[in-house]
Amino acid sequence: MNKAEEIKKVENLARKCKRCILYKYRKNVVFGSGNINSKLFFLGESPGKKEDEKGIPFCGKAGKILEQLFKSISLERQDVYITSVLKCRPPKNRNPKKDEIEKCSFYLDKQIEIVNPEVIVCLGRISLNYILKKYFNRKNFLITDLHGKIIEKNGKKIFPIFHPAFAIYNPKKFEIMKKDFKKLKGLIC
Ligand code: URA
Repeated sequence: MNKAEEIKKVENLARKCKRCILYKYRKNVVFGSGNINSKLFFLGESPGKKEDEKGIPFCGKAGKILEQLFKSISLERQDVYITSVLKCRPPKNRNPKKDEIEKCSFYLDKQIEIVNPEVIVCLGRISLNYILKKYFNRKNFLITDLHGKIIEKNGKKIFPIFHPAFAIYNPKKFEIMKKDFKKLKGLIC
């Protein structure tokens, strides 16, 4: 099986998933999109209303911010792979629960294995702490302490930044994120 077939197989499983209660509320599974051969893997938290309606990650307000950030370093969203820790929207956009994250991790771990990126860009606290625990055996770090810093172990690199939703009504956060993105560009060029 090639990479595209492998990822499709996992996506088909996710589309039928009933591992946690969130399947009852979803309109669409928001599996992931973009370039499966990219060096960069962007990892958000969970789909919002727009994403649930369309089945595409980061297609709402936070996605617009993310696209502006891509543009600031001459990237397009099709150049990178984008997904979130949860593939289904939690009701009223509440925080993901521990058991939902655990059950959904089957899909995320497979996506990381197949895409095999150079850098996982963690968008926000939930995604940062999932990756730190899983691959780095570290726990409970704050995005405010780690954003814009590369963390490396056994050839795996992660790069935490604030979740784009933080910048929707906060131009200062947006400027910080733009600076972090410049560092990200330095990493991949
Ligand atoms: N926020 C996320 O973390 N993921 C999405 O897909 C949309 C908003």
